[in-house]
Amino acid sequence: MITIIGSGKVGGDAALFSALKKLDDQILLLDVAKGLPQGEAMDINHMLSEQGIDVEVTGSNDYEDIRGSNIVVVVAGSARKPGMTRMDLLKINASIVKSVTENIKKYADDSMIIPVSNPLDPMAYITQKVSGFDRSRVFGMGGMLDLSRFRQFIHESTGHSRDSIRGLVIGEHGENMLPLPRFSSVSGIPLSSFLPKAKLDEIVQNTKQVAAKVIELKGATVHAPGNAISAIVETVVRDRKQVIPVATYLDGEYGHSDVTIGVPAVIGKNGVEKIIELDLNDEERQMFDKGVANVKDAISGIEI
Ligand code: LAC
Repeated sequence: MITIIGSGKVGGDAALFSALKKLDDQILLLDVAKGLPQGEAMDINHMLSEQGIDVEVTGSNDYEDIRGSNIVVVVAGSARKPGMTRMDLLKINASIVKSVTENIKKYADDSMIIPVSNPLDPMAYITQKVSGFDRSRVFGMGGMLDLSRFRQFIHESTGHSRDSIRGLVIGEHGENMLPLPRFSSVSGIPLSSFLPKAKLDEIVQNTKQVAAKVIELKGATVHAPGNAISAIVETVVRDRKQVIPVATYLDGEYGHSDVTIGVPAVIGKNGVEKIIELDLNDEERQMFDKGVANVKDAISGIEI
């Protein structure tokens, strides 16, 4: 069973995309708000009936119901409002994520946890520490979402099919995120063969800033995060062993320890199966390390 804790717009979209992709026979939406997960589940089930898809989506307010979950996605907490940074949510969401994780540990202690709540990297760290799970079973969704935006800007700038565009965005899911043109391509051809450095720099900046723009325009980001969550879940349930960016706990990798941040990893049925260490140049390494410092500073300010 796939459980999604937090049945707002992103959680609902994650359930919808996961159901459409038939990632499990059962998907549970959980929320503290009475009626919300139940209503969301009914709405999705009505859509699935028209499509003839026999995935059962249920809604609950009771943590007892998460027993038997293989994967638990945590979207619970407040979302950014226009003008806010993800880090502005640190204090309020830290206590929520800690409580949610304690319940996952109590009722689904053999599951994998995919944190999504912001600020993602500190929230994933809290999840890791409070759950005490092996680090392979805790991997946050952040870089996957940033990568979807990075790919869109590459698509817009080159005009080439989205399907031929590959890339990487690692580091903090926040102000210090690190889109990597050097590790991006169009059909395996280095991106630098298609776009001048000035354009690549522009795409990197746009990738960092576009979420705030969407929030300013429509009030929230919904479909891109909902889809990115389902894409990570799919890589696990289908044991695809895709190399994708996830926020996971470092124990010496990239020269850092006791921090959770976005790195490329092989994701399969066992969760984080291998962390891949890229040969970053000085500029890339500086931005990565700046993100680590920012996340560590945030972590130091919260009681776990
Ligand atoms: C975003 C939020 C989910 O980047 O962090 O849209």
